[in-house]
Amino acid sequence: MRILGTGSAAPVNILTNQMLSNMVDTSDEWIVERTGIHTRHIAADNESALTLARQAAMQALDAADVQIDKIKLVICASVTNELRCPSLACNIQRDLELPEDILAFDINAACSGFIYALITASELLKENEYALIIGSEVLSRITDYRDRNTCVLFGDGAGAAVIGFSTNPIHWTAMAKGDDQKLRIDDYIHMDGHAVFKFAVEALTNGIRTVTEKAGFTLADLDLVVCHQANERILASAAKRLGISPDRFFLNLAKYGNTSAASVPMALDEAVRSGQIHKGMRVVLAGFGGGLTSGAVAMEWS
Ligand code: COA
Repeated sequence: MRILGTGSAAPVNILTNQMLSNMVDTSDEWIVERTGIHTRHIAADNESALTLARQAAMQALDAADVQIDKIKLVICASVTNELRCPSLACNIQRDLELPEDILAFDINAACSGFIYALITASELLKENEYALIIGSEVLSRITDYRDRNTCVLFGDGAGAAVIGFSTNPIHWTAMAKGDDQKLRIDDYIHMDGHAVFKFAVEALTNGIRTVTEKAGFTLADLDLVVCHQANERILASAAKRLGISPDRFFLNLAKYGNTSAASVPMALDEAVRSGQIHKGMRVVLAGFGGGLTSGAVAMEWS
């Protein structure tokens, strides 16, 4: 499997820490120190998981330069599609005028959604086939802006990638463990921050270690880890446990906060477009989140 092109989209509206401190009992200092987040992007009324997904997908298709009639698979990862049905993936098929002889479906694996989608696509694709995978979220619609424990963390956005079949292997690991105590979404996101933090560090550390071994790399060989952007301290703790430099972890959460399924592909797109990923690099992508779920993928970038 090869990632041929990436794209991303974020709403124009920005919610700063200062603005949040006028809404709940918090401060810029607390948020930056405990999370690393400075701002998040918030969807306007006319934006949705679908409109953001569409923008990111169009960019990824453009970057990949793949004819759309070669797309055989569309997978969208989201917990914030407005409708239960049709799926985001079906609406993307319609809006981008993709062929009809395809598989198109959504995945709910919360913040691990894009990694689950990537693994699924890599298992399903055959020679000369391409997949469009997207993570898109409007978490602002399910965030309780009276709850300081959660509202400082989340933001909106979308990221996408076009995947092509390749004989280059990818190595993956995934985990799922039913638990509605630590992280649950009904009308709003409810979270036991401490428990999720602990789970996240462990899942990230295990995932990165496992796929690195499967790929035959050593941890010292890893050039870049692009993982779910939940909290800078989670990433720093994982780096410390693995004994690798935190510099090896791509970071853009200061700007976007936690965008759940959109987080990994938004970070990946920024890493690609800013020239921080190039051919031959040993890259790990990793996600963790509600479900509980986690997953990681290792590959040599080609
Ligand atoms: N502003 C100011 N104070 C806050 C606050 C905020 N936004 N949110 C919580 N606090 C308070 C708490 O009420 C607590 O006060 P108390 O000691 O009087 O009870 C104090 O800060 C410390 O809270 P604690 O939960 O220990 O903080 P923390 O260092 O664990 O940070 C999180 C809280 C939520 C940032 C952190 O636990 C976290 O990031 N968890 C993982 C979240 C995550 O990644 N979720 C998604 C996974 S996909």
